[in-house]
Amino acid sequence: MCGIIGIASNRPVSTNIINSLKKLEYRGYDSAGIATITDGYINEKKCSGRVDELQKILLKTPSNGNIGIGHVRWATHGIPSIVNAHPHSSDAVSVVHNGIIENSDEIKKNLETKNFKFKSQTDTEVITLLITEALNDSKPLEAVFKTLKKLKGSFALGIIFKNYENIIIGARRGSPLAVGYSNDENFLGSDSYALKSMTNKISYLDDGELCVLTKDNVEFFNQNKKKINKKIHLVSEDLNTSEKGNFKNFMSKEISEQPITAKKCVSEYVDKIKKDINIYNFPIKPSEINKIVLIGCGTAYHSCLVAKYWFEEITSIEAEIDVASEFRYRNLKLNEKNLYVFLSQSGETADTSAALDICKKNKVKTCAIVNVVESTIARNADWVLPIHAGPEIGVASTKAFLGQLIVLFILCLKLSFMRKDINKEFYNSKIDDLTKLPDEINKCLKSETNIQLMAKEFLDANGSMFLGRGFSYPIALEGALKLKELSYLHAEGYPAGEMKHGPLALIEDGLPVVVIAPKDKYFEKTLSNMQEVIARGGKIFFFTDNKKKSISENIRFGLRVPFLDNLFSPILLTVPLQLLAYHVALLKNCDIDKPRNLAKSVTVE
Ligand code: F6R
Repeated sequence: MCGIIGIASNRPVSTNIINSLKKLEYRGYDSAGIATITDGYINEKKCSGRVDELQKILLKTPSNGNIGIGHVRWATHGIPSIVNAHPHSSDAVSVVHNGIIENSDEIKKNLETKNFKFKSQTDTEVITLLITEALNDSKPLEAVFKTLKKLKGSFALGIIFKNYENIIIGARRGSPLAVGYSNDENFLGSDSYALKSMTNKISYLDDGELCVLTKDNVEFFNQNKKKINKKIHLVSEDLNTSEKGNFKNFMSKEISEQPITAKKCVSEYVDKIKKDINIYNFPIKPSEINKIVLIGCGTAYHSCLVAKYWFEEITSIEAEIDVASEFRYRNLKLNEKNLYVFLSQSGETADTSAALDICKKNKVKTCAIVNVVESTIARNADWVLPIHAGPEIGVASTKAFLGQLIVLFILCLKLSFMRKDINKEFYNSKIDDLTKLPDEINKCLKSETNIQLMAKEFLDANGSMFLGRGFSYPIALEGALKLKELSYLHAEGYPAGEMKHGPLALIEDGLPVVVIAPKDKYFEKTLSNMQEVIARGGKIFFFTDNKKKSISENIRFGLRVPFLDNLFSPILLTVPLQLLAYHVALLKNCDIDKPRNLAKSVTVE
């Protein structure tokens, strides 16, 4: 949520700030702004809406200045508007902020008694005015330290000062912040993605840390004001995956990349020749793991749910799942014999990160399955299994979900074999299947023309349902989530067996109902549930891998994906569901890469 960029240079910075904000727009796009120090003054320009609007403003009235900060906002406090857009500036200081200041009302009341005037409804403005007040008797670094002491909540900050026109101060508590280095320029960014086009040398701030950037120097401090050294990481600039190329949008590119994602992910973990899985250094001896607890949010949570079914099916380990925002506040009985596995594409999701911190505090063993290996969650976990999907820019997670599923399956298979729950023959055959997976995913992509026809049927609907049992239940949830977030059409995912217990009341003539029924032990049961829907007028869209010819004449639209093995049906059936959501959204002219009200990286609670 929200994106920060800061540049200290020996040449004008506004063009590079705008270019970087465009890259960060996937994090927040309610409003945007920039502040530079020009001729001894803070020059602030803001707009509501997209960075393109800000660029137009700058074309008319350019902002000079060799130092500056920029921001794309995802509104938390105060509606998306010019006045609430960041930066928030006083005569002395200008601030961009990601996160939430929880005690902002209290601080605001206090500042108002001292005659400070507020322009916006944001929580951020208290930071601007606290620093302004502190600057009366302190230098910038000290003024920021004094201010941070008064703040409760989470933040990543970028700050510039009218009277100290060569420095940017950055600070982190709870929201990610990175520093990039170049020859005669240094950068601040809320993630490395925006910095990658300018540098491949990056350091990551940890919670409580602060940095001071000039064009040719960067200093880091811990919360006790002690100077510290930070490791510089060399990150690879993966241009192919960072640009949309000939695709209409990032989402269509990322969906179509999935065979490559799968191939990369499988080849990172699977040794085809030795027929083995290269996962070592388990934080708990596999034979001694009592339970696997899988935790995530949204789509990542759905991957936990699929994995629960896998663990139950092929291992002797009990598997439990939790939504991170619930896990973090419950009175949990954490157990040192359990392995706590955190799923997160970004590795920065606030709830997932907080849930991981609770496990760390309780000294139980943690594993992070992430896409961004430099992320907070990856850095904090005992053990990291990357999904190797490359940058995912579309807000709706597609290739990362697939990558999460593949890594979870691989982990499950390895543990099962090490604990002797399965024999070598079964292990080998699943390894063979894993190597076939990329081609099978590719075949699923060929269903696109068929899906385009189906998508038209959703245009006049008032809602829709997605039903599945067993492995297909989480996939029904995921299909419904994708459709609602992209097309704004209400979609409900349900275990098909639950229909009679309430949701059947929603079925009316012509309601689109997506039934996911692979050839597994639930197939016949799902067909019965489907008949109950048909009897009440539901319009069936049937997704299966069953080659059986005549399933029901009342199926309005049917789609068959390849059959690899029952265990892989959730992976293969996900692809047409992604395409369905995509094409409904496309027909409805929705902003596919940036659905309304959502942001890619949810760094606030
Ligand atoms: C939906 C989606 C979200 C994310 C969720 C967790 O398409 O992308 O539901 O899955 O916000 O994000 P990460 O995986 O970054 O922790």
